[in-house]
Amino acid sequence: MSSAADKLIVALDFPNASQALALVDQLEGRCRWFKVGLELYISAGNHVVLELKKRHFGVFLDLKLHDIPNTVAGAVRSVAGLGADLLTVHAGGGPAMLAAAAEAAAGLPQASRLLAVTVLTSMDAAQLAATGIAARPAEQALRLAKVAHESGIQGLVCSPEEAAQMRHELPGSILVTPGIRPVGASVGDQKRVATPAAALSAGADYLVVGRPITLAKDPVLAAEAILSEIAFVK
Ligand code: C5P
Repeated sequence: MSSAADKLIVALDFPNASQALALVDQLEGRCRWFKVGLELYISAGNHVVLELKKRHFGVFLDLKLHDIPNTVAGAVRSVAGLGADLLTVHAGGGPAMLAAAAEAAAGLPQASRLLAVTVLTSMDAAQLAATGIAARPAEQALRLAKVAHESGIQGLVCSPEEAAQMRHELPGSILVTPGIRPVGASVGDQKRVATPAAALSAGADYLVVGRPITLAKDPVLAAEAILSEIAFVK
């Protein structure tokens, strides 16, 4: 399998485990990483995460935890036994919540590596302004990334548009970028997007790709096209 496969995370946004695992069967041997988000986790629960780990895939458990510090720390402890490699918390939960999550993870040998979600890739300046935040998405994302770093979380989820700035300002971060759209792909509800090659060139470590693969007529071809596009990006 190519090393490009180490950088591509396929988002299994499906309503049930059988549809999700059918795609996993198709992509096995080509893709190494899968993301379980809220839609699938709420319907299929831990079973699908355990199944993916049994099959030796990298698993990104995208629960985007956002609650009071005590509850988020408890949730980090509760999912630790699943063996997911990456787990998201919302940076907007603030420094106390982020520090509680980091502290909970640090106390557990099996805990997932935490990623702080900065500003959702579906939000543009107008969406942010409607929530009372006057800053541009890139400014707000960097502010939240710094809060996450200071609270002990070095992994970040950001848009590819912010990846270069994050890489420059917070060089030690692990950068995960959704909002990936190959040339010609439908943007859907995403607002801050880039092609796979552009996102990697900007400094992303991992690309999260959902609908451009899951809704493709031929998901295997769609995944292979992305893998070839990124294969030679340094
Ligand atoms: O289908 P698409 O490629 O837009 O899927 C992107 C995936 O990344 C979705 O599962 C979404 O929940 C997730 N995500 C995101 N923006 C973030 C964090 C996660 O789109 N900031």
